[in-house]
Amino acid sequence: MRRSGGNRVGKSVVDVRADIPFLKTGIIYLDNASTTPTPQPVIDAMLGYFSEYSANVGRGLYRATCRATEAFEAARGKIARVINAKPEEIVYTKNATEAINIVARGLKWRKGDKVVATVLEHHSNLIPWQRLERAAGVKLNLVPATPDCLIELAAVERAVDKKTRLVTVSHVSNAVGSIQPIVEIGKLARDNGALFLVDAAQSVGHIPVGVKRIGCDFLAAPGHKGLLGPQGTGFLYVREDRFDELEPLLLGGGIVESVEEHSCKLVAPPQVFDAGTPNIPGVIGLGRACEYVEEIGVEKIAERERRLTELMMEISGIEHVQVYGPDIEHRGGVVSLNVDNLEHHKVAAMLDEIANIAVRSGHHCAAPTMRRLGVDGTARASVHYFNLEEEVERFVDVLGQIARDFGG
Ligand code: ALA
Repeated sequence: MRRSGGNRVGKSVVDVRADIPFLKTGIIYLDNASTTPTPQPVIDAMLGYFSEYSANVGRGLYRATCRATEAFEAARGKIARVINAKPEEIVYTKNATEAINIVARGLKWRKGDKVVATVLEHHSNLIPWQRLERAAGVKLNLVPATPDCLIELAAVERAVDKKTRLVTVSHVSNAVGSIQPIVEIGKLARDNGALFLVDAAQSVGHIPVGVKRIGCDFLAAPGHKGLLGPQGTGFLYVREDRFDELEPLLLGGGIVESVEEHSCKLVAPPQVFDAGTPNIPGVIGLGRACEYVEEIGVEKIAERERRLTELMMEISGIEHVQVYGPDIEHRGGVVSLNVDNLEHHKVAAMLDEIANIAVRSGHHCAAPTMRRLGVDGTARASVHYFNLEEEVERFVDVLGQIARDFGG
C-alpha cells in the first residue's frame, strides 16, 4: 500500500521483525509492557545524529548545531501526530514517570485540593500524589476497582466533586491489561471543573489514542514501549492553554531569554521544559519511532495485538493456571498469571530456561493492584505487533507443561 505522497504504509509483521536486530537472537520476547526492542530505522536515526551532526541544540549557529536543533524540534511534530495534538503541546521527558511528576510538581496546589486516582495505578501515578498528600495537604482519593480490575464510572462519579483539582487514571493497566473508559472519566472530570491527566504508558502506540477525543488536559507516555522508541525517552502532552498553570520541573541553561543576577526571563513552552542538555539522540530516535509506528498503522497494531492476546488467553483453560483481569473486550495486550503453588519468579525463570521466552515477574510496580488480587506478584506476558502466533502458541504450550509438571 502507498500513500499519495509515496510513503510506504502498512509494514508487515515480516518487515518489522526483519527490522528488529534483538529478535534475531532467537528470543521469544513477551515483555513489551516493560520495554520494546528497537527497530533498525530508529537505531539508524540515532547513529546518524552521532556520526553526522552530534552537536548540542538551541545553543549556537554553526551548521551541525542548527541541524541538531532542527531534528530535535521536528520530533515534537512526529510525536504530536500520533496522538492528534499540536507540536507545541509536546514536552520531552525521559519517561512517563517524569511526565507525571511534572504535573504533580508543576501545578500550584492549594491545601484541601483533591486528587482522584484509582487503586490500579502504576507506582508512577501513585507515589507523586502521595507526596503531595504529605507535603501540600492535598487529599488523595483512590477509586476502587471491580474484581476483574475495571474502573466503573459510578465509582468515579462518587469520588469526584467540586473540590477535585485533578483526576488521573491509567488508560491500560500495566499489571493486568484492563482498559479503562477514559473518555467518560474525562467528561466526569470536566463536568466538575477538574483537570484530567491520562497515564497512557500502556496504550500509546498499541491502540489509537487521540487527545482531542479523550478531552484530557495532560497525557503522559513513554517512548520505549508501544512507540518502539529508545529507552530514556517519553513525553507529556499539555493542552496548550494549560501551560500557564504548569511550572517546569527543572530550571537552568538553554531555556532563558535573559538572565540578571537576581532574575531571569524564560523562553515560552514547550522549550522552557528543556533545561540542560537534553537526550538529543533519544528524542531524534523517538521522532523516527513515531514515524515507524505510523508506517505500520496504529489500528493495524491494535487489531493484531488483540488477536495475539486472544491466543494468549487460552492459558485460562489450563488446569492450575490463574489469569487475572478482564475479558478480551476490555483487555490490552497484557496477560498476568500465576501457576498454583509455584512462585511467579520461578514461572518466568522456567519459561526462559525451557523455551527462551521473556516475561516479567513480580509486582509490576503496581503493588496495590497485586494486593487487591490477593497475590504478591504474577508472571506477565505482553505482546506487540511483531510477535508471531507461533511464539504465543509456544508460550501457551510451555506454560501448560510447567503447570502440569509443577502446579497444583
Ligand atoms: N512499567 C513497566 C512495566 O510495567 C516497566 O513493566
